[in-house]
Amino acid sequence: MTAKIIAVINRKGGCGKTTISMMLGGAIANKKKKVLVADGNSEQGSAIRWASVASSDKPFPADVVEIGDTTDQIHNELRKYIYDYDFIIVDCPPTAQSVIGESVLLVADLAIVPVEPNPLDIWGTVGIKKLIGEMVIKNIGLKSRLLINKCNPNTRLTKDVLEIISDFGIELFNTKIHKRTVYAEAPAIGGIVHDLGYKAKEAIQEIDQLTKEVIKILK
Ligand SMILES: Nc1ncnc2c1ncn2[C@@H]1O[C@H](COP(=O)(O)OP(=O)(O)O)[C@@H](O)[C@H]1O
Ligand SMILES: [Mg+2]
Repeated sequence: MTAKIIAVINRKGGCGKTTISMMLGGAIANKKKKVLVADGNSEQGSAIRWASVASSDKPFPADVVEIGDTTDQIHNELRKYIYDYDFIIVDCPPTAQSVIGESVLLVADLAIVPVEPNPLDIWGTVGIKKLIGEMVIKNIGLKSRLLINKCNPNTRLTKDVLEIISDFGIELFNTKIHKRTVYAEAPAIGGIVHDLGYKAKEAIQEIDQLTKEVIKILK
């Protein structure tokens, strides 16, 4: 097996990189795939901490390791895991603060760019679009998708943003992740929304749909 590498990446913090990395990591692992989430934000270590909250009789479904966030050699560090996993998901630190995003994109198969549907956040992703454009020249197989996160479909703002974003230049996932309390609750139980039962049913559905899309893109 040779792992498919997914970079969850954006310029700024707070757009949901760790949340999406852990949801996808957990959901793909529950499909009997070997998944590694590589926590590239060691200063915060949120993915590591998230997994450490899980109880020993129900551990987090994916392995989670820390990778250094000061080196530009992450592509080499990832190579040592590549034969042991089906998927490696790299929870990148904000690219505005770190060089690792660039080195992850050298070996990634897919870049997922979570973005909140408001003008400031959309404008903020112009830099990432440029970086991905530069890295595609070195890593021709690199695919990329924007992922709308914290979507609140009933607001005028979201509707306006969704209209303009289709011309942004990076393809959009069909799946949108909505703003839901269960996403913020999942880290507290060291699991994913699937572990929160009935109250999370809409979230479970959208994560399952996202998982399917990701696997299809990487086929
Ligand atoms: N879809 C969502 N609905 C509600 N809260 C969310 C959602 N996605 C992320 N959050 C919350 O937003 C905050 C930032 O998310 P996080 O995944 O840590 O972002 P990043 O890793 O990009 O800094 C966290 O408190 C998280 O629980
Ligand atoms: Mg994070």
